[in-house]
Amino acid sequence: MSRRSKSSGAWLREHFDDPYVQRAQKEGWRSRAAFKLEELDGAERLIFPGATVIDLGAAPGGWSQYAARKLAGNGTVIAVDLLPMPELAGVTFLQGDFREQAVLDALLELISGRRVDLVMSDMAPNMSGVDVVDHARAADLEELALDFSRKVLGPDGTLVMKLFQGAGFQELLADARRRFGQVRIRKPKASRQRSSEAYLVARKPRA
Ligand SMILES: C[S@@+](CC[C@H](N)C(=O)[O-])C[C@H]1O[C@@H](n2cnc3c(N)ncnc32)[C@H](O)[C@@H]1O
Repeated sequence: MSRRSKSSGAWLREHFDDPYVQRAQKEGWRSRAAFKLEELDGAERLIFPGATVIDLGAAPGGWSQYAARKLAGNGTVIAVDLLPMPELAGVTFLQGDFREQAVLDALLELISGRRVDLVMSDMAPNMSGVDVVDHARAADLEELALDFSRKVLGPDGTLVMKLFQGAGFQELLADARRRFGQVRIRKPKASRQRSSEAYLVARKPRA
């Protein structure tokens, strides 16, 4: 057996043994990622009746699905991804690359001047395996999500954003602290321990 097929076999075993994957299948969630948001929401009270929520990097849709289920028709969810995403009740989906101005303009048009309560970004670049390249790509997306949220969030709005602990982490954190009055880092239990991902929760955008 090749090294590659051995490691993909191990990945598949780990995937199907994962209690969050099993629960997602049983409860009909699009992805196990939904449980990361559920945990963040439980700790931070992110999603409330009437909220306007923007989901960046939404496919396959676990976070949007969680937000739409919780809002139950009383609120707005607008989701963006590079990849297509099958339709979800209560979610407006825009397919495109968030780094492109035309996509940003289309998103702003969909928001159409509403005060946004929550920007959530679970965006992650395709990993090349070359650390400097991957960190630079992730940092680029993180900076764009920070800029965007500063632009659209109301004064009580919140940004929740995936980031990778590694090169550039401290700089990103410092940048977030310059732009928001309150910044916390959380690592939900549903986030795999060996993954360097963590979630920034930033409130009180500075004018
Ligand atoms: C970890 S997945 C998100 C999982 C999702 N939160 C869920 O609950 O199912 C990361 C997503 O970010 C998207 N992404 C990466 N770069 C992007 C970009 N430049 N613009 C839009 N989406 C992007 C990827 O296509 C991928 O679907």
